[in-house]
Amino acid sequence: MAQRRKLVAGNWKLNGSLSLVSLFEKGLDNVNLPNVDVVICPPAVYIPSFKSGPVLGGQNLAVNDCGAFTGEISGEQLASVGAKYVIVGHSERRELFFEDNQLVAAKFARAQNAGLVPILCVGESLETRKSGDLFAFINAQLQAVLDLVGISGFTNAIVAYEPIWAIGTGETATPAQAQEVHEFIRAWFAKHDQACAESVKILYGGSVNASTAPELFAQPDIDGGLVGGASLKLEEFITICTAANK
Ligand code: 13P
Repeated sequence: MAQRRKLVAGNWKLNGSLSLVSLFEKGLDNVNLPNVDVVICPPAVYIPSFKSGPVLGGQNLAVNDCGAFTGEISGEQLASVGAKYVIVGHSERRELFFEDNQLVAAKFARAQNAGLVPILCVGESLETRKSGDLFAFINAQLQAVLDLVGISGFTNAIVAYEPIWAIGTGETATPAQAQEVHEFIRAWFAKHDQACAESVKILYGGSVNASTAPELFAQPDIDGGLVGGASLKLEEFITICTAANK
């Protein structure tokens, strides 16, 4: 089985500034991380400000490609200023901006049409986990995308498992909890296409930090991380990327 290359993506959310861009540009230029892809998803206005350093991604994209949609940014526009990736279906978009599985699937397809690699976020609330519906819930989130783009749509895509209860709470899923869901997701892919299951990167997100990253990234089905708060701190982010570089 081919070894999957690890990827660590920092999701800055609604944080950051031009001076943080400059700090990360310089900081990431000077580190040697040959075995990991390092991605930063800053607020979209900062994407063209990075002249070097990490690979860049958007945090969201419009479901339309142009038109009278005030405040929206299309996948083509993100790509035109240097984005290679875009996060799709983050739980904050799902919960705070009412994005349902169908809209997320449509955005996933739009991202690929624009030449971006979608990072599809899935993950359950604590309530769903406690109710025992965890796997059915994740299945529905994946299935909606599969129904629209087919299994071939996942050959150039990334999945991020982000349990909502672990996001921004300081409560990281244990490596065993995360691995259990990652294994489920990979088995879900294997039901449709074995080669895709073996190649698709599945990132873990939810309070990843310098101390939790090494054990998480050592799990067989965890191919890196989607990092929120800790991606705003250069030294800690580099430590996390270094853990993935092993
Ligand atoms: P935290 O790392 O701050 O928990 O955020 C995770 C996340 O939502 C990344 O997309």
